[in-house]
Amino acid sequence: MWGMIATWRMAHDGVLAAKELLEGQASCKDAVETAIKAVEDYPFYKSVGYGGLPNERGIVEMDAAFMDGETFKIGAVAGITDVANPISVARQLSDEKFNSFRVGQGATEYAMLAGFERKNMLTDRAKKIWEKRLAEIAASNLDPYDGHDTVGVVALDTQQQMAVGTSSSGLFMKKQGRVGDSPLSGSGFYVDSTIGGAAATGLGEDLMKGCLSYEIVRLMGEGLSPQAACDRAVYGFEERLRKRYGKAGAFSLIALDKNGVWGVATNVEFTFSVATADQEAAIYMANPGPDQTTVITPITQEWLDAYEARIKAPV
Ligand code: GLY
Repeated sequence: MWGMIATWRMAHDGVLAAKELLEGQASCKDAVETAIKAVEDYPFYKSVGYGGLPNERGIVEMDAAFMDGETFKIGAVAGITDVANPISVARQLSDEKFNSFRVGQGATEYAMLAGFERKNMLTDRAKKIWEKRLAEIAASNLDPYDGHDTVGVVALDTQQQMAVGTSSSGLFMKKQGRVGDSPLSGSGFYVDSTIGGAAATGLGEDLMKGCLSYEIVRLMGEGLSPQAACDRAVYGFEERLRKRYGKAGAFSLIALDKNGVWGVATNVEFTFSVATADQEAAIYMANPGPDQTTVITPITQEWLDAYEARIKAPV
């Protein structure tokens, strides 16, 4: 058995490339890196890698993480700049016994010294969107923050090993040095090859209050199906957060178990991509349903066309 699940429609082309690898018996680690690099490289995705929207100073600061579910090795970067593929840096860092989570200048310097591709990650389009938002904020004092679309990928290979990765340019207009959940173990991602893995997307500040990726893996370890684990962790936490913190940002979680069975839960409209040995690669849409359940439907061509038009619309 092999399988892969990834957050958002934006991950689908990467999933298609990674699926070829998994079918050819490649490692889940290569599959995760391949899928995420495809998202990082595509200039029209505004929340990951090249083309990602910058912080309030106009700098694209990126977060990424990589975890090997066999050994529990983790590598992560936060606030890294001018590097084409933060996921590859995170993966390499996962082999370091010490200093495996680097931030800011230390992360960027590590990547440069290790020979990773240097790249100005601010596209003209992202710069224009940033300038426009600065003007809007000055004119109307609006809150610049919203949910966030991280790419998160969980993969299972034919050797029955698992890996997970995340990559994000973080909240648009974030303060310099702000870090979300994506590089944080347990919050943005977690995987154990003997159980399964999970990854998160959404408002990092709220996701890290619940350590939801770890919680989903823990629940799967207790015998819940991936879907039941996602539903219980996500909707249970949302309820507790609303009661005790007063509100809950947008968040969505994906999970895959060691048998290639998957699940998702979300408190907003959420798209995701799946491919397994038993299931054709496809994009689905998830929405919160009644009684703490998730309603999952195939994506429509109409939605895909509107999405394509929206991400490429003139600024
Ligand atoms: N979930 C990504 C972030 O909040 O930065």
